[in-house]
Amino acid sequence: MKFEGANPTGSFKDRGMTVGVSIARASGFRATIVASTSNTAASVAAYSARAGMECFVVVPKGKVARGKVAQVVLHGAKILEIEGFFDDALKSVLENVEKLTELGVYPLNSFNPWRLEGQKTIAFEIFDDVGIPDLVIVPVGNAGNIYAIWKGFEELRQLGLIDSVPRMVGVQASRSAPLYLTWIKRSRELVVVENPETIASAIRIGKPVNWLKAIKAVEESKGFFVAVDDDEILEAQRELARRGIGVEPASAASYAAYRKLLEMKAIDRDETVVLVATGHALKDPDTPMKFFESITIRSPSELIEVLRGTKG
Ligand code: F0G
Repeated sequence: MKFEGANPTGSFKDRGMTVGVSIARASGFRATIVASTSNTAASVAAYSARAGMECFVVVPKGKVARGKVAQVVLHGAKILEIEGFFDDALKSVLENVEKLTELGVYPLNSFNPWRLEGQKTIAFEIFDDVGIPDLVIVPVGNAGNIYAIWKGFEELRQLGLIDSVPRMVGVQASRSAPLYLTWIKRSRELVVVENPETIASAIRIGKPVNWLKAIKAVEESKGFFVAVDDDEILEAQRELARRGIGVEPASAASYAAYRKLLEMKAIDRDETVVLVATGHALKDPDTPMKFFESITIRSPSELIEVLRGTKG
C-alpha cells in the first residue's frame, strides 16, 4: 500500500498543491480557488495560508466529510456551498476561469497541469520503494491522479530508467462510476452519471473533468477500470484498519478492488500490486462512528469484570 495519509494535510492532494500554490504566488495571484469534495479544499487552504494568500473553496452542501471541512475552517479559507453535487461546484469554477484570473484568483482544480506535475511524485516514490510493480490500483474521482501517476512512470520510461510502465487500474464506486461505465461500453464519449451516490464522498463524482486523460493512462498501460460497491468499500476499510492502516472510504476502494480482482482471478497472487491509499481515516470520522459501540463501567472492579468476560 502506498499510504498517502501521512502527507501534511492527510491526503495525496498536498503533492500537487505545493506546486500549484507556489506557481500561483510566483505568478502574482492574490488568491486561490478550488471546487472540491474537500481533500483538495483542505490542502489548498493549508498551502494558501502558508503562502499568505486568500483562499476560496466551493463545495457541494452536505456532501463532504467533516474532518476535511474542519481543516478548511482551521486554515481560514472562505467556504462557498452549492446545492447539488461536486460536478456543479466544479462547473462554477470552470465556467469562470477567465473572470477569476482577471480578479487575481488562481483556479487550482486538477485541470490545472501543475497539480498533476506534483502528483507524479507518487510514481517516483513507488519506483524507489518497489521498482516497477505489475499493477497500480488507484481510486478515481475527477480522474487527475491516475493520469498523474501514469505520467510519472511514463516519464521514467522515456528517460530510459525503466523498460515498461505498470498497468494502471482505476477504481470507482459502483453508483458513481462514469469512467468504469465508459470503459465497459467502449464508449468514445463520457457516460455521465447524473446523481452519483456513494459512502466514499471523496469520489462521488459523475462527470470527471480529466476523463480523457484517465482513459489514456489506462489504455496505454494496458490496464482497466473496475467498480466496487459501498459495502465492499466499508469491509475493506475495516479490514485495513484492523491491520493498523487507517484510511478514508475512497482510499479503501483500492483494497476492495484488489480483493475483488483476486477473487475474480483477474490478477494473480504473485503479481506485485501497489494500492494507492489516497487519504487518512480521520478525514471522515462519521463513517467509522456509525459502528460506535461501548461498555459503560461504574467502578474499578467493573473494569476487571469486563476484562474477565463476566460483564458486557
Ligand atoms: N481519493 C481521495 C481521498 C480523494 O480525495 C480523491 C479526490 C480521489 C481519491 C480521486 O482522485 O480526483 O484525482 O481521481 N478528491 C477530489 C477533491 C475530487 O476535491 O478532494 P482524482
